[in-house]
Amino acid sequence: MTAYQLLHDPLLDSVLLASDEIEDICQDLGGRITRDYTGHDLVLVTVLRGGLVFLADLCRRIDLPVTLDFMAISSYSSGAAVRITKDLDDAITRRDVLVVEDIVDTGLTLNYLLGVLKSRNPASLGVCALLDRDARRLADIPIAYRGLKMPDRFVVGYGLDLGGRYRNLPYIATVRDEVMG
Ligand code: PRP
Repeated sequence: MTAYQLLHDPLLDSVLLASDEIEDICQDLGGRITRDYTGHDLVLVTVLRGGLVFLADLCRRIDLPVTLDFMAISSYSSGAAVRITKDLDDAITRRDVLVVEDIVDTGLTLNYLLGVLKSRNPASLGVCALLDRDARRLADIPIAYRGLKMPDRFVVGYGLDLGGRYRNLPYIATVRDEVMG
């Protein structure tokens, strides 16, 4: 199935990244991460919920003994402070931490998260993001491993949702502009 849901869903527009393209990106990023972190104590940290699909594929392309950990934070909305709703299970002090995200948009989520993680004194702290949508960037985020720099379109699939739906699409699709208003 690649086109079925797209053709039959009036909200979706076109495919931004097909399954095989995502696979190639994971292979490439996983290879680079493997080379860069050989001999290190690497923990992959993912922000729930969107990042988990990418993490699942990416971590299987990293040929190193890694551990996985998860955080959840409340979404940033105007005026509301970001806060942790689920913290990491393990300490990261003196460990090499790579935060794995599906998308960096304004950068506010990662800006907050990186600040929190840095205060715990990891050996290193990096970011791997599948999508970099920089048109509305408010905080400068260093993205060491980037899958794709994308245009200012709303996208769903492969972990990304619209009202909680579409996370299980095996590809990433753009949502029609008229749906987003
Ligand atoms: C998405 C994404 C990032 C964040 C990026 O999560 O997974 O965590 O938005 O946006 P920002 O750069 O503007 O801060 P979302 O808040 O939609 O929650 P979800 O992961 O549960 O889908």
